[in-house]
Amino acid sequence: MELHEAIKGRRSVRKFKPDPVPKVVLDRILEMAIWAPSGMNRQNWYFLVITGKQREALVRLASKSYDYVEPILKEVFAEKPPVVEATKKFFAKLGGAPVLVFAYYEPCKEISETSVQTVAAAIQNLLLAAHAEGLGACWMTGPLHVADQINEFLNIHDKTLVAVIPMGYPDQSPPAPKRKPNRIVFEGF
Ligand SMILES: Cc1cc2nc3c(=O)[nH]c(=O)nc-3n(C[C@H](O)[C@H](O)[C@H](O)COP(=O)(O)O)c2cc1C
Repeated sequence: MELHEAIKGRRSVRKFKPDPVPKVVLDRILEMAIWAPSGMNRQNWYFLVITGKQREALVRLASKSYDYVEPILKEVFAEKPPVVEATKKFFAKLGGAPVLVFAYYEPCKEISETSVQTVAAAIQNLLLAAHAEGLGACWMTGPLHVADQINEFLNIHDKTLVAVIPMGYPDQSPPAPKRKPNRIVFEGF
């Protein structure tokens, strides 16, 4: 897939087919994730890719975060109640995604912003690689409201959760949200 097409064609997908994703496809996607740049080349990202039995319990846990997200959503989308309803539905089952990716960083001496940006760069690679494989995904920070419970369940105590990414074959083709104008300034040209 051509790069510009991949960047503009990628969408946040929130409804998935139940079809399993072959491990070899996930291997290719995660391989692309770790070719992102990283602060001081520490590569201190850590991805946990989960399918099967554990998935259901994790969906149940992550869905609890909706209670924290709802008041903010209602404020941001006060004029668009269907967005709030659709998000509520999405959080309840994470769109039925057969695969969940938990993106972490291992803390280091560098300020935490560096590690967060390191993982964010890898996540964007992951999303684009998933799109190129015909998969859909949604970058989510909503579940961070229940990060402690997720970490407890996964028995992870030495890393920081940055995002949860449900992934699978898309069962929807969301329209592209318009990009806001006036966010780029050039000077001196
Ligand atoms: C840091 C970050 C956090 C996000 N968290 C959520 C989330 O918790 N739930 C959700 O449904 N979408 C989440 N999104 C997806 C955005 O809503 C989505 O990217 C945005 O609406 C633009 O749509 P697009 O990705 O299709 O271009 C998140 C995206 C980013 C970059």
